Amino acid sequence: MKNVPENKISNSTQEKEKLFNGLIKSVAGLVGVVIILVGLVLSVLFQPEISARLNSLTSETSEENPAPLTDFSTELVDGKDVETGLLAGDGLELVKANCTACHSSALILQNRFTREGWHSKIEWMQETQGLWDLGGNEAMILDYLAANYAPEAPKGRRVPLTGIEWYELKD
Ligand code: HEC
Repeated sequence: MKNVPENKISNSTQEKEKLFNGLIKSVAGLVGVVIILVGLVLSVLFQPEISARLNSLTSETSEENPAPLTDFSTELVDGKDVETGLLAGDGLELVKANCTACHSSALILQNRFTREGWHSKIEWMQETQGLWDLGGNEAMILDYLAANYAPEAPKGRRVPLTGIEWYELKD
């Protein structure tokens, strides 16, 4: 083997490194371009499906006044509407039709208000959430809510504690 001056060796390894780095960069660039192209092609191919999906996501909120349904059937089991869990009673159909269009009945089931309290919730939804004017149905809806989802009366004295382990104070 011939003796090669040291600076020559290091020069050639540096050049190799440069070449290698350049190669890596261009491969990475190429992969990026391919990914973008594939994305473009896919989005063009599936454009109708994507826009349909987006429409279905936004349609609920874009419909300003979803018409309250009028013919609502209710199936009652144990005094509760099977579909919503709302208690049976006068006005159930109206509440089902007007109050479960935007959110589930859970928001009603988990709340207890007086008639005034329910009224102010309805006003709040009308002012801020796009709830429509309930017209002549409002009184019946409020009657139903106040009758079935009123604050519980305080139960009086609490139940006495049981199973207490008393201990002697030591001094
Ligand atoms: C137009 C859409 C819409 C309709 C119809 C609607 N609500 Fe709501 N309601 C909302 C929105 C939006 C919220 C807020 C939900 C949240 O906080 O996640 C809400 C919240 C509530 C809450 C919770 C309020 C609170 O302070 O936590 C109750 C109770 C409620 N609604 C009852 C009703 C009743 C009763 C009706 C029928 C008269 C009704 N909603 C109809 C949109 C509506």
